[in-house]
Amino acid sequence: MNKYLFVYFNIFLLWGLLYSCSKDQAASPEPEPPEGNEVTVENVSYNNFVGALFESKCGSCHASGGGASGRWTFSGYTSVRDNASRINNVVLVTRTMPIGGTLTTNERSLLQAWFDRNTPED
Ligand code: HEC
Repeated sequence: MNKYLFVYFNIFLLWGLLYSCSKDQAASPEPEPPEGNEVTVENVSYNNFVGALFESKCGSCHASGGGASGRWTFSGYTSVRDNASRINNVVLVTRTMPIGGTLTTNERSLLQAWFDRNTPED
């Protein structure tokens, strides 16, 4: 075999090998995203969802010093847990709260699931 032909032949082989490796890698499945980031009806808690929801949808009137804080003062987890049935009633049953705002269907079902699971903090 001619010396140059031999070199080209080897380059060709090497290229083929590298190409098939990179193809294998591209074809292998994507790693799964880490689990536990998504809030679902199974894992909804005060700390991963409900606290922030109340903060944004209720805090303007019900935080301490707010206009409606006399009826219910929102000041963290225990203030929600200790008033769970009243809150459930005005938000999910009569839907009189939040005044001037709404909850999305998803927010409603997560909140419902949170009450059904006995208001877990974490
Ligand atoms: C724009 C102001 C405003 C916002 C926002 C608001 N509220 Fe109220 N809330 C009030 C007022 C005013 C009252 C008193 C209503 C009344 O006396 O009929 C009240 C009353 C309540 C009560 C007492 C009900 C009872 O049975 O005594 C609860 C509990 C409550 N709100 C929960 C919430 C929750 C939970 C949110 C958020 C999802 C929220 N509110 C958002 C103004 C607000």
